[in-house]
Amino acid sequence: MLNRLDLQKMKENDEKITMITAYDYPSAKAAEESEIDMILVGDSLGMVVLGYESTVQVTVNDMIHHGKAVKRGAPNTYTVVDMPFMSYHVSLEESLINAREIFQKTDAQALKLEGASEEILLLTKRLTEAGIPVVGHLGLTPQTVNVLGGFKVQGKDKETAKKLLEDAEKLAEHGAVSLVLECVPKELAEIVTENTPIPIIGIGAGVYCDGQVLVYHDILKYGVDRLPKFVKPYGDFNTQGVEAIKGYVSDVKKGLFPLDQHSFLTKNKDLLPKS
Ligand code: KIV
Ligand code: NA
Repeated sequence: MLNRLDLQKMKENDEKITMITAYDYPSAKAAEESEIDMILVGDSLGMVVLGYESTVQVTVNDMIHHGKAVKRGAPNTYTVVDMPFMSYHVSLEESLINAREIFQKTDAQALKLEGASEEILLLTKRLTEAGIPVVGHLGLTPQTVNVLGGFKVQGKDKETAKKLLEDAEKLAEHGAVSLVLECVPKELAEIVTENTPIPIIGIGAGVYCDGQVLVYHDILKYGVDRLPKFVKPYGDFNTQGVEAIKGYVSDVKKGLFPLDQHSFLTKNKDLLPKS
């Protein structure tokens, strides 16, 4: 398994870092078999596997439940687990307790927090000191979608662009091991990547980031109907899945499944009860 120093070295050597989300045993297994560098158990699981409208409904227990399944499927891949909505905002003490719970129970390599407020910076420092590596998340932070007013590109004006760069530097200073940068202009992401010492993993942030992350279900077009502009799908599980299930339904209806090759046959018919 890679460690944070390997990832840091990849940034320094201009070697791109690959990351994909996973939420359960099969997705994690596929990710590990694909030799991905990092897995994210994203709270996007609320939307893509639980069917919620946003990540706001996701709980600490949801993250633990899915995180444990992912680790069983990808025991040898560097795995980051999201802290979910409001699990790290009530008080420093409650945040530390929730972080310990998620980190210990999922056996993750790091936890991801959104934002860079004074409280988040302090929490990043405290978790790092305690032995829990923190991945930051800036730009579009989906847990605050209701405050941002929608899933929109961030850092488009001079002030917010400057703040984003400062926030990235501050997170690194407080111990963050890497940063996810979501939905920001490519040119701004390039500046942040050049000026921040830790690996910057982009999503909707252009090609100059140190690495890229995408949602598993978006890459495979699996259960999602509409893809954001920044996604390139590499498969079409929606079509393949429905075609496969339609084939099964049709075969059963016509008596074409199961055939003898799918059935257990009696060798000695004398053993059967008389009908
Ligand atoms: O939850 C998630 O999938 C994420 C990625 C979009 C970075 O946070
Ligand atoms: Na997330």
